[in-house]
Amino acid sequence: MVTSLDALGRWEKLDALTGPVQRVVRGLPLGRYRDVLHGLPIGHPLHPALVQVPMGAWLSAAVLDVVPGTGRSARLLVGVGVLAAAPAAWAGWVDWAEQHEDQMRTGLVHAASIAVAVGLYARSWVQRGRGRTARGKVLGFAGLCAAGAGGMIGGHLAYRQAAGANKTEPVPHLLDDGWHPVGRVEDFPIGEAVRRELGEVPLLVVRRPGGHLHVLAGRCSHLSGPLPEGTITDGCVVCPWHGSVFRLSDGANVRGPATAPQPTFQVSVDYEGIVHVRLPGAG
Ligand code: FES
Repeated sequence: MVTSLDALGRWEKLDALTGPVQRVVRGLPLGRYRDVLHGLPIGHPLHPALVQVPMGAWLSAAVLDVVPGTGRSARLLVGVGVLAAAPAAWAGWVDWAEQHEDQMRTGLVHAASIAVAVGLYARSWVQRGRGRTARGKVLGFAGLCAAGAGGMIGGHLAYRQAAGANKTEPVPHLLDDGWHPVGRVEDFPIGEAVRRELGEVPLLVVRRPGGHLHVLAGRCSHLSGPLPEGTITDGCVVCPWHGSVFRLSDGANVRGPATAPQPTFQVSVDYEGIVHVRLPGAG
C-alpha cells in the first residue's frame, strides 16, 4: 500500500497538469487572503483543520443512514459536507501550488479523489431530496469511500512526503546548548546574506547597516529552501523558492507560504571581534 502511494509521487504523466493548474492557482487575486488560506495566522496549515468539517459531516451522515427515521438529518449533513468542502479545497489548492513536484503529483490524485467524493455526495443530496433515499444512501457510501481514499492519500502527502510540516522543528535538537563561534565580524559584509554551518545546521547571517548581526536557521521552515541564497530587503529575507518572507530580527514569517517562523539565534561579539551564536532551547 505504501509503495503504491509512494508511486504517486513519481507519476510523471501528471506533470502535464501540474504546471498549468499551478499557474492558475498562483494567478488567483487572493491578496492577503492567500496567507490566511495557507494558515499563517494560526501557525500551521489551515487545510487539515478545515477538512474536519466535511469529513465529520459525511461520516455522521453514514451513521445516520443505518439508523431508521433519520433521513432528513442525514441529508442535511450530506449538504453541509458538500458546502464545507469548498473552503477546505481553497486552502488545499493554495498550499498545493507551493510544493515540490512529487508532492504536487500526489496532491493532484488527492484532489481528484475528493472531487469524486463531492460529486457523489452532491448527487446523493439531490436523490434524497427527490425521495430516492436508497439511491441517495448508496451514493453517500460511495462518496465516503472516495473521501476515505482521498484522506489516506492526503495523510501520505502530509506525513510521508512532509508537505506542510515545519522543516525547522529539528533544528534545536541538532545543536548543543551554548555559544558557538561562526566567524569574525568582517566576514559578514553589510546587507549581504552569508551562509555558515553549525554542525549539521546551515545558518543565515546578515549584518545590517549600523552593524547589528542577525542569525537565523538557514533552511526555510516551508520546504527547506536555502535562505542564504534569498534576497535581503526591508529587514527581512525572502526565500528563493516560494517567496516566504522572514523578519531578520525575530524570524517571524510575515508572508507565506511558510506557516512557521525561523529559529533565531542570539548573537554576541567578543573583544577580538569573533561572532558567537546561541539558539535558546537548543540541546
Ligand atoms: S522553501 Fe518554500 S518558501 Fe521557502
